[in-house]
Amino acid sequence: MLLLLSGVAESLSHGLQKSCGLEIVSSHHKLFPDGEQYIRILSEVRDRDVVVAQSMYPNQDSKAVELYLAIEALQGLQATVSTVLIPYMAYARQDKRFLKGEPISVKAIYAPLRLFNVKRLVVVDTHSHDVSALVGIEVVNILPHAYAIKKAGISVDFILSPDRGALHRAESAAKAFGVSFDYLDKFRDRVTGEIKVSPKDLDVRNANVAIVDDIISTGGTIAKACQILYDLGANKVYAVVSHALLSEKSIEVLSKAGLTKLITTNSVKRQINLPEWVLEVDLSELICNELRRAP
Ligand code: R5P
Repeated sequence: MLLLLSGVAESLSHGLQKSCGLEIVSSHHKLFPDGEQYIRILSEVRDRDVVVAQSMYPNQDSKAVELYLAIEALQGLQATVSTVLIPYMAYARQDKRFLKGEPISVKAIYAPLRLFNVKRLVVVDTHSHDVSALVGIEVVNILPHAYAIKKAGISVDFILSPDRGALHRAESAAKAFGVSFDYLDKFRDRVTGEIKVSPKDLDVRNANVAIVDDIISTGGTIAKACQILYDLGANKVYAVVSHALLSEKSIEVLSKAGLTKLITTNSVKRQINLPEWVLEVDLSELICNELRRAP
């Protein structure tokens, strides 16, 4: 098996090369003057199976085009592409028509993989529990929270999901440590985007709690959950979030909330320097274990 790396975070790229022991496909990328992308595969790939590891963030739209250009170019050279690895599955939050007239974005962006005969999409903590039916091929969803907590070397007594719909994350991490878990009720106004997280009576007095989630964008969800936990008497509050997109002001929002530590992964490339209370865990070992399994 060969590996084509496209835009993934440098540490993940190095980690995948080291841990998976796959030969790297070399490629040339450029932009035409009108903004269209150009890709050329430079390695010999004929009759080989190539895993395409494609970042989908930042620049989600151009990354989606890059993915399909790369697959087509590889197939044009008689390679097969049975597995695509997308560490952060952009466009996955819109997994239903919340309001009349909206698209199911995750279907629109990823269902064409089937037309290219891709058999398996490996992702890290996609927003919905199971998007295989929408994408139309097998989607392997790696949940990294328990792994990240172990790598961070912290001890947790309780795991919290900031949203009932995301309880599977809390449940899976809680099982790994034999601790209790629960959820908060989160409501998002689909028109304004404003979120409300309702307080709840949880038994977390003096406990070290880990809030687990898929994404931090503005930091609002984690900050609200953190405040509720401190009001209930929690000792330390950690956030364990797979994809820290960290949009503008999120660091300030999280810092004001008094989060003990944010533990995230190298699923995305970030433009900002992370403060010392943020730990980035390398996912390459977890991902390679999955890639080694045949599709
Ligand atoms: C939404 O449902 C996701 O699971 C995350 O909770 C959300 O994207 C976090 O966004 P923010 O950091 O802006 O609150």
